[in-house]
Amino acid sequence: MQQQAHPSKVWFITGAARGIGLSLARQALARGDAVAATSRTLASLQQAFGDSDKQLLPLEVDLVKETSVQAAIDKTVATFGRMDCVVNNAGYGQQGTIEALSDAELRRNFDVNVFAPLHVLRHALPHLRAQRGGHVFNVASIVGFQGGYAGWGSYVASKFAIAGLTETLAAELAELGIKATVVYPGPVRTGFLSKDTLVVAKRSIADYTEAQASLDLHLNGLDGKQAGDPEKVATLILQAATVAEPPVHLFAGKIANTLAEQKMQAVRKDLQAWRGASDATDFAE
Ligand SMILES: NC(=O)c1ccc[n+]([C@@H]2O[C@H](COP(=O)([O-])OP(=O)(O)OC[C@H]3O[C@@H](n4cnc5c(N)ncnc54)[C@H](OP(=O)(O)O)[C@@H]3O)[C@@H](O)[C@H]2O)c1
Repeated sequence: MQQQAHPSKVWFITGAARGIGLSLARQALARGDAVAATSRTLASLQQAFGDSDKQLLPLEVDLVKETSVQAAIDKTVATFGRMDCVVNNAGYGQQGTIEALSDAELRRNFDVNVFAPLHVLRHALPHLRAQRGGHVFNVASIVGFQGGYAGWGSYVASKFAIAGLTETLAAELAELGIKATVVYPGPVRTGFLSKDTLVVAKRSIADYTEAQASLDLHLNGLDGKQAGDPEKVATLILQAATVAEPPVHLFAGKIANTLAEQKMQAVRKDLQAWRGASDATDFAE
């Protein structure tokens, strides 16, 4: 991996008042970069970052509202003159089986995890395109590669969506000199699974025992014991932002790597088992 020299960058990071986003923002500031950091409340950014830093632009943003996102991006460019790394990091877990989840629960989760990043991209990409450079990081989750995760269909589907659009973005942006990376963290020790952050479906159906067991495990067994260190996940993203040829797919942590290998093997197995029958569906000529 070839490290490039270190010209300072301008970052736009959503959900930067805590967790992975906060670690990334702090590390970027520490290396001399400028950071536009978003949160739903200015107070939480003030609490997270403390005294004012000229290189930090705290932004109170409602990511679900396109006008709010646009104003934040305009302010970032007006303040720092450019944008280099755009990190769609904000997101939350919505628990619940597919049968039990309401339309409102699903749409809210997709608003934050998928449509908010799309708002960011719609308004950030014109700047990156004008510069003919920049790097988009979309934070998905290993479950957005693995799938098959009982009780988490909304979250899983939202993360598959962000992964799929990042792969497409990478294809569209290549000719413009802009990079796109989807980040797939395994479990990371942040407040993500805490009872006031994780959203549990209003309805639960007793027949779905595996989904219930998974919820219990996440709330009572995993929270606070996740293997991933947010500081090290942030360092990995910074590292990917400074190499000449960053990956489109960036897995973070041993669990993510193992699950990704398992998923690829399972897909290969299905592909091979059905290869003949599948090939035979083409026209004969
Ligand atoms: N922790 C994990 O195990 C894990 C694993 C895989 C992927 N991820 C992904 O990593 C990203 C960061 O998560 P984290 O672990 O750092 O979690 P976190 O500590 O809970 O932080 C999540 C951030 O997302 C923002 N956010 C949450 N719900 C929101 C909403 N309804 N509207 C707008 N913003 C909202 C929060 O911003 P506010 O400041 O406005 O509250 C917060 O800064 C997420 O996309 C998550 O899906 C996490």
